[in-house]
Amino acid sequence: MVEMNQGLEGIHIGESKLSSVDGQKGELIYRGYTIEDLALNRTFEDTVFLLFFGVLPDADERETLREQIALSRTLPPAVVAALEACKDAHPMDAIRTAVSLLGGIDSASEDDSVEANRAKSFRLIGQLGAAVATFHRIREGLPPLDNNPNDDMARYFMRSIRDEEPDDHFVRVFDACLTLHADHGCNASTFSARVTTSTMSDLHSAVVSAIGTLKGALHGGANSRVMEMLLTIGSEDEAEAFVDDALAHKRRIMGFGHRVYKVFDPRAKVLRELSVGMIGRGADEKWLRMSDRMVEVMKAKKDIDPNVDFYSASLYYSMGIPLDIYTPIFAMSRVSGWCAHILEQKASNRLMRPRLVYTGPRDLTTKA
Ligand code: ACO
Repeated sequence: MVEMNQGLEGIHIGESKLSSVDGQKGELIYRGYTIEDLALNRTFEDTVFLLFFGVLPDADERETLREQIALSRTLPPAVVAALEACKDAHPMDAIRTAVSLLGGIDSASEDDSVEANRAKSFRLIGQLGAAVATFHRIREGLPPLDNNPNDDMARYFMRSIRDEEPDDHFVRVFDACLTLHADHGCNASTFSARVTTSTMSDLHSAVVSAIGTLKGALHGGANSRVMEMLLTIGSEDEAEAFVDDALAHKRRIMGFGHRVYKVFDPRAKVLRELSVGMIGRGADEKWLRMSDRMVEVMKAKKDIDPNVDFYSASLYYSMGIPLDIYTPIFAMSRVSGWCAHILEQKASNRLMRPRLVYTGPRDLTTKA
């Protein structure tokens, strides 16, 4: 009898120095630092530096990386045209197309040195943020925004989305969200990126694989569905009945459950804290009350806790971000983790090639 592991649960495919997820303790660490510490005290750009170099940057290093990412936000005209052509598509399809095209026109695309892959990674982090922002502006009929190279990613993005000078508090909160989503061990999209890399394919191809994987409802695609669900439920009083009905019909409630965390996702705790801080700053408290009620009911009835996609949904909603941009925001942050994993995979590679147990027919013949 062949031993099977559908879903690869609990399988370790290698070693990593990037991030550690402890599903029993509810702990997430990037390169030795807890996610709470990084999200609340550091910036997304600091986190990118940490993921790639293993230490936090000094002031010069921070500025150099911030500028490198910022300058790459000016997209090639062909990419803007592709985003225009995709303006009616799902935003994840649009940014997947943009990354594919960016690979096709990047002159260093086939340079597989560590230096080139690192430079491509930093470029891609800026370009992906710009692709999401540009897609949004095209779709809303807004004019292109001048790329202010002094902006960090969070300020640039909030300005692009809101089409006004963003509130400092919103920028800070959004920056923390980017840090919270940057890496998460061997999650499905990172695994995709590593599988593609393991065939000795290029960095852009691996990121395209990862974006396709992140899109799904059981992974990054859950966050926009959470907000659709909250809008459908409508009020705190209806939350319990909604959960009961979903559980009775064996429907999954988006934003709950996790393959690794068996306790409250530490990112969800920080996101809830950030949501509390948004009350009185334009956030309608009813979303937080409704979310808290769902968490209570799910815990009591199914012993399942919320994941990162739960509290991020209403938080983004309170910042005026359109629902279908939530998963692309996940991608514009997670691209940093994907690329760091791609480099790590390249440094210690073995082709990933699992097997399937064949259960189809045998002994057929084409001869009459
Ligand atoms: N709603 C209702 N029931 C759930 C949920 C949920 N969200 N999640 C798990 N369960 C139940 C299952 O129905 C099953 O119940 P049963 O034993 O009574 O049949 C039990 O919990 C175990 O479910 P599995 O699918 O085996 O657990 P798994 O580890 O594969 O689940 C997953 C992980 C896929 C994320 C799941 O929790 C889920 O579908 N969640 C909703 C989608 C979501 O929020 N995805 C984002 C995850 S975080 C991220 O990727 C960024």
